[in-house]
Amino acid sequence: KKKLKLGVFGFGCVGQGLYHVLHETQGIKAEIKKVCVKTKNKARPVPDSFFTFDKNEILNDLDIDIVVELIDDANAAFEILKASLEKGKAVVTANKKMLAEHLEEIFNLQKKHGKPVLYEGSVCGSIPIIRNLEEYYDNDLIQSIEGIFNGSTNFILTKVFEENKNYTEALKQAQELGFAESDPSLDVKGYDPKFKLVIAIAHTFGVFVKPEDVINIGIDRISDLDLKFARENGYNIKLVARAFKSGDKIFGFVAPQFIDPTNALASVRNEYNAVQVQGAFAEKQVFIGKGAGSYPTGSAVLSDISALTYQYSYEYKKLEQAHGLTFSNELITEA
Ligand code: HSE
Repeated sequence: KKKLKLGVFGFGCVGQGLYHVLHETQGIKAEIKKVCVKTKNKARPVPDSFFTFDKNEILNDLDIDIVVELIDDANAAFEILKASLEKGKAVVTANKKMLAEHLEEIFNLQKKHGKPVLYEGSVCGSIPIIRNLEEYYDNDLIQSIEGIFNGSTNFILTKVFEENKNYTEALKQAQELGFAESDPSLDVKGYDPKFKLVIAIAHTFGVFVKPEDVINIGIDRISDLDLKFARENGYNIKLVARAFKSGDKIFGFVAPQFIDPTNALASVRNEYNAVQVQGAFAEKQVFIGKGAGSYPTGSAVLSDISALTYQYSYEYKKLEQAHGLTFSNELITEA
């Protein structure tokens, strides 16, 4: 069987992770043909001939089947996605900001061009949550989805709250380890987990939400008094992303919360993420895995490529079945 040819955009943390895991994996019928990067004359662990600085070298290459978009700039990423679909290529992306901002349009473009856009790596890194939401659950079987959707801030909270380390040092370390966004305020202020929550809400409840309609409160709002209160009362503090159904409305937010030690989220440390799904009949299920980092995220991206090599085109069918639910950003107290 022919190997599918990949045209990759971006060779940062995730791009290099993908390169590595693809080369360490036997049996995936795909190979990288070209990588398009922005910066010239940068030391890279791969021969120069592999790289191009011209996006058309990938977009116009009829031999390239799949565009793998792993750049930082969400607007440029969306242009690449659109151009790739127009050229008849499938797209794999991990760009949560771009996805959260354009999910409905991307869903329609996917149908128009008849080519899949897959993005397992965009939500909670290595945790296969999109595919599970799509394939395992029926829409009305999920009551709520919540969890730790950001590795950097969980890493920082672990260092600061559990290990009494310095906040600035912990943030620096999260950046050095490749967990943080290039603009780390996206992590610290809760935007990054909000983008992931928006994507998760679509695949959980079939509802498209605009990121600006979802409240995000970041770990920068945690005070010394909060830390003291948590310590004295035996709580942990986690940055929680949560969406739940109440009647025909969906509510969602990102905010730091005091976590009781009996809650599975309490023991999720460092760059690990967790997703708790509350099913109507299945009851609570917990997924835990690395939510950030080069190889774990690269491996989630590879899972999408692998799915495409099987021509296993899971259409994202959840997005067609809103069941009359609408998102509301009213502040309500949960029953
Ligand atoms: N900055 C993100 C995080 C990277 O820390 O979770 C993974 O999406």
